[in-house]
Amino acid sequence: MNRNLALEFVRTTEMAAIASARWMGRGDEKAADQAAVDAMRLMLDTVDCQGTVVIGEGERDEAPMLYIGEKVGSGNGPALDIALDPLEGTTVCAVGASNSISVMAIAEEGGFLNAPDTYMDKIAVGPEGRGLIDIKETPKENLRRLAEAKKCKVADLTVCILDRDRHRDLIAQVRDAGARIKLIGDGDVAASLACCEDNSGVDILMGTGGAPEGVIAAAALRCMGGDFIGQLRFRHEEEKERARKMGITDLNKIYTIEELASGNVMFVATGVTTGAFLNGVRFKPWGATTQSIVMRSQSGTIRRIEAEHRFDTKPRY
Ligand code: FBP
Repeated sequence: MNRNLALEFVRTTEMAAIASARWMGRGDEKAADQAAVDAMRLMLDTVDCQGTVVIGEGERDEAPMLYIGEKVGSGNGPALDIALDPLEGTTVCAVGASNSISVMAIAEEGGFLNAPDTYMDKIAVGPEGRGLIDIKETPKENLRRLAEAKKCKVADLTVCILDRDRHRDLIAQVRDAGARIKLIGDGDVAASLACCEDNSGVDILMGTGGAPEGVIAAAALRCMGGDFIGQLRFRHEEEKERARKMGITDLNKIYTIEELASGNVMFVATGVTTGAFLNGVRFKPWGATTQSIVMRSQSGTIRRIEAEHRFDTKPRY
């Protein structure tokens, strides 16, 4: 994969972030998401690749754009699989809370698990915890291992968990283990990234969130040297059937980070609302500023890109 492609793809998340940031705090999740989808779709066709959306806005019959299987890119260049979420954290953006991002991961053909739109049990950690976590173990044991690796006490660790009723038992177990908890309303991709950032105040992500988001987070953590383990959690028989159709034979399989995102992967994200990891879009009299992150697993280079977008020369914004 041409390394310069990553810098092309970041334009698509920048544009989606600016478009959806206009809807921040306006209470309209659908409009915020639609703005991001439209902007990303438009920009994607300027990137020289033969892209296929493998994780996107949904099945073809339920999503008119950026649906699973949709061909994107200029049609010239390498064949790539793309996992995207034009606005990860739609509710977050609509209420003006922190941590919504526009995000995309790119792999060579076949590099991503084609995850159905179901749930996934997840554990994400930064580089210190790599190879140590085990989703079959109790939260207490995983926290003990991480604390040992980080040379700290379990009481020093902060576990990020989506604030959902389904996590009551997990929260009780983490409290019993003695660790601190950061409950988040939405956005477990940004939270997974935060596990790799020293000053984010998050050491580990635990709990059940969206499976597509799990694949995107795994791609990011591959680039950052962290670790991610996932296991699909189906809500009903129809989801299981969908998974089988997508080629998943073992519905109870525990996926390693490499099984979720293999080979050379790239990851790009732009902050929509400010979070622990990325600043959000700021509008100025002349345009807007964005902060993005661009990473490649091959080199492990992590670039943060601060951009100033001038609307008089970019009328599309
Ligand atoms: P959206 O961007 O689709 O709104 O997803 C936000 C999110 O919080 C994800 O980060 C997370 O994986 C998932 O939703 C959790 O699903 P649910 O809200 O059903 O618990």
